[in-house]
Amino acid sequence: MRRKLVVGNWKMHGSRPANAELLAALLAGRPYRADVAVCVPSIYLNETAATLAGSDLRWGAQDVSAHEQGAYTGEISAAMLAECGCRYTLVGHSERRACHAETDALVAAKAQAALARGVTPIVCVGETLAERDAGQTEAVVKRQLSAVITRLAHCAAEMVVAYEPVWAIGTGRTASPEQALAVHAVLRAQLQAATGHGAAMTILYGGSVKPDNAATLFAQADIDGGLIGGASLKAADFIAICRAAH
Ligand code: 13P
Repeated sequence: MRRKLVVGNWKMHGSRPANAELLAALLAGRPYRADVAVCVPSIYLNETAATLAGSDLRWGAQDVSAHEQGAYTGEISAAMLAECGCRYTLVGHSERRACHAETDALVAAKAQAALARGVTPIVCVGETLAERDAGQTEAVVKRQLSAVITRLAHCAAEMVVAYEPVWAIGTGRTASPEQALAVHAVLRAQLQAATGHGAAMTILYGGSVKPDNAATLFAQADIDGGLIGGASLKAADFIAICRAAH
């Protein structure tokens, strides 16, 4: 039985007082039956680590450099994330693919850089509405995942995958459980074929997950939890979503 995982992606939101309040509420909301993590803006990683250290809540980053170190102004290496105690880093979020022109190859390199430092990459894949309407959903997510599987080779089973249909992110338009499940099944089959460990791997769903739809989504056989954007900023909503995962 796979353990459920719920990850909050704060994106570029937060402030010291707001973060302190949110993290205190998440700590007070324990215990959760699922594993719970927050991926915070990197400037807040140290404070998050200090607040959550010693608890069973986990933390991570939203991006990582593909490079080990060097003249890469503004970038943050996997070793630095590891130093901050990051358990996870997102890679290939659709906002980075779209706004920062991240290619499948770069996403794969970032996933590899993270794993090399013991930070679990949460690899985000997902189709746009145009791609879905053109019947390309399966081809797109398989292509995105394939690049990472190839690059990670024998370590591929160590990543977490998040299916986030771009049209469902921040739109209030959630994929139906059937739509999500269909893609999760495709991804799991691909992971199983490539690694032999697909049945044990964690595949999250992300895209307008809210307290009122979380339980139904998480009850689907191949959905192992969620990657939560907007609702992860509201303590009561995020706690309710975490409690819906078990
Ligand atoms: P929303 O939950 O706000 O739709 O965002 C999803 C997301 O992008 C999480 O990474």
